[in-house]
Amino acid sequence: MTGSQSYSGNGETKGKVAIVTGGATGIGEEAVRIFVENGAFVVIADIKDQLGHSLATSFGSDKVTYRHCDVRDENEVAETVAFTVEKYNSLDIMFSNAGIAGSYSSILDLDLKEFDNTMAINVRGVAATIKHAARVMVARKIRGSIICTASVAASFAGGAGHEYTVSKHGVLGLVRSACGELGAYGIRVNSISPYALATPMTCAALDVGPAEVEAAAYGSANLEGITLKADHIAEAALFLASDESLYISGHNLVVDGGYSAVNRWLPRIQK
Ligand SMILES: NC(=O)c1ccc[n+]([C@@H]2O[C@H](COP(=O)([O-])OP(=O)(O)OC[C@H]3O[C@@H](n4cnc5c(N)ncnc54)[C@H](O)[C@@H]3O)[C@@H](O)[C@H]2O)c1
Repeated sequence: MTGSQSYSGNGETKGKVAIVTGGATGIGEEAVRIFVENGAFVVIADIKDQLGHSLATSFGSDKVTYRHCDVRDENEVAETVAFTVEKYNSLDIMFSNAGIAGSYSSILDLDLKEFDNTMAINVRGVAATIKHAARVMVARKIRGSIICTASVAASFAGGAGHEYTVSKHGVLGLVRSACGELGAYGIRVNSISPYALATPMTCAALDVGPAEVEAAAYGSANLEGITLKADHIAEAALFLASDESLYISGHNLVVDGGYSAVNRWLPRIQK
């Protein structure tokens, strides 16, 4: 092992350059904050231009920039990667996090246009970010970290709409497949699978406020005494972005307090 490959003993992203897609709100916004607090240069890539710009300027530093990037458009993804490399001279971390909830309709009424749009963002968009981030990392011999936001819905059904469930299963497939090829270049590819939390996505999809989402999620969760927040997911992203996780690749880091590991059928019938 060479010195540059060895563990640096910190969970920081000091001096590293990151793109966070879907970085204007929710999990992405928290990841931007945590990456910056830990010394990274960050490009926020999103379609919510006003929110993204005001988040970037709130840091009062040239270390954070907003860039309009619709992940459905491969050219915009490629341009965002090129812009990042031009401005900060590297790309060490791609946090491919942008996603939508899609519809919750019955399979009998599935709207295939909506289905395609969910796939275009949640799967095709993730593929485009992996492709263009990896091209730069391979060409520049950067031992980068690519992190994709999946979901507990990537591993079982019933907790989300059909198209969302399918799309997040697709994210896991992409991560494993890309990890297999990119390991040869020292590039790590992982995913994070959060349980339900109150972000603009869930509040809009369920048409309720954050308190209601949190109460419902807490009520069906496994881990007592804690409510899942966006910063818990952002901390997981920081771990996978940093040298703390130097030998972790192809992993799906489930952040659900044990929810998906437990099936409580027995206590329900026990006297
Ligand atoms: N909130 C949850 O309960 C939950 C659970 C599991 C997984 N996730 C996943 O976490 C990720 C982040 O979602 P969130 O909960 O923070 O929601 P959010 O709505 O707060 O954030 C999603 C961001 O993605 C952006 N986005 C949407 N479409 C885009 C596009 N075409 N191009 C670029 N950006 C786009 C939005 O503008 C938004 O800023 C998503 O992939 C979501 O599926 C969320």
